[in-house]
Amino acid sequence: MRAKIVAGNWKMNKNLAETEALLAELSAKLPNTDAEIMVAPTYVNLASAVRTLESSKIEVIAQNMHYAENGAFTGEISADMLLDIGIDTVIIGHSERRAYFAENDEILSKKVISALGKGMRVMFCFGEELEDRKSGNHFKLVESQLKNVLFNLEPSAWSNIILAYEPVWAIGTGETASPEQAQEMHAFIRKTISEAFDSTIATNVTILYGGSVKPGNAVEIFSKPDVDGGLIGGAALIADDFVAIVKAI
Ligand code: 13P
Repeated sequence: MRAKIVAGNWKMNKNLAETEALLAELSAKLPNTDAEIMVAPTYVNLASAVRTLESSKIEVIAQNMHYAENGAFTGEISADMLLDIGIDTVIIGHSERRAYFAENDEILSKKVISALGKGMRVMFCFGEELEDRKSGNHFKLVESQLKNVLFNLEPSAWSNIILAYEPVWAIGTGETASPEQAQEMHAFIRKTISEAFDSTIATNVTILYGGSVKPGNAVEIFSKPDVDGGLIGGAALIADDFVAIVKAI
């Protein structure tokens, strides 16, 4: 069901002590809210984060997983391993995984099928590069990213999918999509899903925006009708900034 969500993707930042310190600060400062609050620390700190947040409303999620159940995949982590430590939501398809680890639609499709098959919730990331936007190809590109990975799923799978539109040119650059650009793309995403499935699925899916969301621009971005929240990178590493963004929702 459509929800308000603010999620922090910590990427490859914060050691164990820093992770615990940031979680303690967030726990102390976060306001009561109906929105779902999520944090994605690095793999090695996930289990301790889950323990620390046991009675908290902050949910710990994973940044990535492998599609295989187990086996000879050095350096990888499976859905079962995440579930075993109490994590049932995983980010799949982040542009940094696509760009630096050669994760293409085929691999991402296997990951999504694997995670959903295990009963996990998938936060699926996608978004265009700057060249796509400059050449006016951004809608087509986003449509193909959705189609190649999500459109062969059963309609029922959509209740476990959260979308995160993250234009690559806005990630870590300080350059945000304008609230109008975010709204325009989110509305396009709902229209595309409505055509491929139906309007109920399109209306009910949660679509987050990610890319240089900061305390100073969050209110305006979140005020757009098709933007249900944010996937936050850099600003999620600073407690006061993340708290301010949560307050914006
Ligand atoms: P920034 O907020 O640092 O631009 O990162 C966004 C992001 O990639 C979240 O997954």
